[in-house]
Amino acid sequence: MNSHLNAVKITDKVYWVGAIDWAVKDFHGYSTERGTTYNAYLVMSDKITLIDTVKAPFRDEMMARISSVTDPGNIRYIISNHAEMDHSGALPETIKEIKPEKVFASPMGVKALNAHFNLSQELTPVKSGDTINLGNMNISFCETKMLHWPDSMFSYLKEEKILFSQDAFGMHLASSMRFEDEIDESIIMWEAEKYFANILMPFSSQILKLLEALPGLNLEIEKIAPDHGPVWRVKPERIIELYRKWSLQELRPKAIIVFDTMWQSTAIMAKSIADGIIAAGGIEVKILPLSAKNRSHVAAELLESSAIIVGSPTLNNNLFPTVADVMTYLKGLKPLNKIGAAFGSCGWSGEAVPQINAFLKDMKVETFSEGFTVKYVPKQEDLQKCFELGKQLGMVLNQKIAGAS
Ligand code: FEO
Repeated sequence: MNSHLNAVKITDKVYWVGAIDWAVKDFHGYSTERGTTYNAYLVMSDKITLIDTVKAPFRDEMMARISSVTDPGNIRYIISNHAEMDHSGALPETIKEIKPEKVFASPMGVKALNAHFNLSQELTPVKSGDTINLGNMNISFCETKMLHWPDSMFSYLKEEKILFSQDAFGMHLASSMRFEDEIDESIIMWEAEKYFANILMPFSSQILKLLEALPGLNLEIEKIAPDHGPVWRVKPERIIELYRKWSLQELRPKAIIVFDTMWQSTAIMAKSIADGIIAAGGIEVKILPLSAKNRSHVAAELLESSAIIVGSPTLNNNLFPTVADVMTYLKGLKPLNKIGAAFGSCGWSGEAVPQINAFLKDMKVETFSEGFTVKYVPKQEDLQKCFELGKQLGMVLNQKIAGAS
């Protein structure tokens, strides 16, 4: 065991004992260019309690950090806030090694953990409103179903005023720093927004309900300790308010143009559409070529955009594969309140634009135009049509924003 791996003090009684994954670049399809952390927390109460574990290959790192504070055999309770394997992968071996008195999870968590693993110990279900006594401290629970799995729950340590929020309020960011104020602000904000867009956007309505219910729980929250990324200690209410804003997905003066290209025809069209949007005034536009931007980046940019224009060449009677990929992904994220349109180029058959329109319809994106396809290479009149499409988008979005205010 690496004796140089230490726990990090979160408060006098609570330590971070997780693992840093500097190498992960693809987290089940989410591009994690900055790596991630799997956070586990050790509560040094009378009954020493471990909150969540780490991904299985990082178990030794977690155990080494625990050992820097106490003998792991002293842990009496384990709480599993979330059954996904980046937090539970190390659980079976940890249970076998330390033989805790009890392992707690939500009722759905008990089911999910038993479905994942052949655990050597029976699990104890805890429901919303339940509290367990740790001797000199108390932890209460709040089930957060579908945020983002059915088993997900929050744990609140009253005496230290810490909300352990599992995936919620987290981000994929490997860092040697453990608190949000120790890391560059622009990186924190981008990664938190990207995480919300890629993991939590489909559950926006449930998040709003949870945030409405939160004040009624009368929790005094001084710190939010998520399962990925830094602990929020300066103004934890800031990330709660950002979640409210991102969940609402209100109209914003921003548009994205997402496309791929074979021989630059679709790329040239994208630029003319962007020029049209700019000409309409007041709308920020971002061009996202899929040769350079992955699907998770597109999702992050879409969150605060109110318009999405998608372009694709037709390849073998189909969408270009990268465009099909990103549309399938975005459809699953269920974005709200967007307008959109399609464009593309082809040699002869031109199926891409109708296929994009079908995706937009499935996503409940309001299409303000049927879009159009250019044969082979756009001529000046085609680029003028692209410019007009962009301008039309700008005018429609500006009208909507004016109507909403
Ligand atoms: Fe970080 Fe849903 O697991």
